[in-house]
Amino acid sequence: MSLLTVFKKPVGPSGFGFASTALEVTEGLNLTGKTILITGVNTGLGRETAKVLALRGAKIYGTVRTHEKALKVQEELGPSVHPILCDLSEPSSVNNAVDLLREFNSPIDAIICNAGVMALPICYQKHGIELQFLTNHLGHFNLVTKLLDLLVETGRVVMVSSRAHTNPYAEGIQFDNLEGTLEYSRWRAYGQSKLANLLFARELATRMPHSSQSAFAVHPGVIKTELVRHFNPLVRLGASLGGALFFKSVEQGAATQCYVAVHPGVSNLNGEYFSDNNVKESSDMGRDMEMAKRLWERSMAFIEKF
Ligand SMILES: NC(=O)c1ccc[n+]([C@@H]2O[C@H](COP(=O)([O-])OP(=O)(O)OC[C@H]3O[C@@H](n4cnc5c(N)ncnc54)[C@H](OP(=O)(O)O)[C@@H]3O)[C@@H](O)[C@H]2O)c1
Repeated sequence: MSLLTVFKKPVGPSGFGFASTALEVTEGLNLTGKTILITGVNTGLGRETAKVLALRGAKIYGTVRTHEKALKVQEELGPSVHPILCDLSEPSSVNNAVDLLREFNSPIDAIICNAGVMALPICYQKHGIELQFLTNHLGHFNLVTKLLDLLVETGRVVMVSSRAHTNPYAEGIQFDNLEGTLEYSRWRAYGQSKLANLLFARELATRMPHSSQSAFAVHPGVIKTELVRHFNPLVRLGASLGGALFFKSVEQGAATQCYVAVHPGVSNLNGEYFSDNNVKESSDMGRDMEMAKRLWERSMAFIEKF
């Protein structure tokens, strides 16, 4: 238990707070008969989310990038978690995952867009787009918009954003620099992709085909996971030591996305941003619906090319 967990005990209006775990926020819920799609289930918050929601009875479709990781997931998480191959940075791979899920023809109760990559030290590009924006935002945009008709009438989409959505400095989404070549900073690019996650959730909330469907964004907290893999060893060591004192555990970090994906307490909160299992005000940019609309149109134009 980290130091912050001890000090940040109080809970919010939901009855949960900073220290609540995924097990605690789903306690007493019976998810038998529910199907939940989660991206990035081989490690970190995605693995914990899949583990806990499966324990509550849900069937999980969980995306991974390789056959090897699929086998590992089956071994570690058991028969309720069905791995699906999907590389979010490759539109054809996302399209294949969509086709496969369509073949299963199983209605989906929730989609948790969890997978992500953070703070790549140099500007990598694929398909003419900076890789964090492509993976974290466009890959999920492609996946979700192509699966919306499989979502049940009370279905939910959860975008795992971050407090880092406040990072992309004043200009928000750099629509004239999505390839990252005009200027690149690892944190601005990560923050931009997380702002895109939040704006996508806000816009999707207004476009859901059924009025009882909803879309949310969450900040999971700061948690020591594999997300720091692109940092140098010294920074990773610092994160490790700091983590023991100040970060959430993985069990706590997975709580907010589990809470908004399945808890009845959020059913009238469509479009909201959550942190520590409670509604949280986002940055002004995170509420900019003009930017959200423009992002939707650009993203749609991108995925239509594939
Ligand atoms: N940890 C934190 O403090 C923190 C804070 C705020 C927000 N978040 C967000 O929480 C989410 C989960 O992060 P985490 O901390 O659990 O990180 P993690 O342990 O690094 O897990 C990330 C997951 O994303 C997958 N992924 C990466 N690139 C991918 C791609 N191109 N296609 C498909 N999957 C890909 C990874 O698969 P591979 O193993 O194959 O790479 C892995 O399963 C991320 O969206 C992150 O931005 C985390």
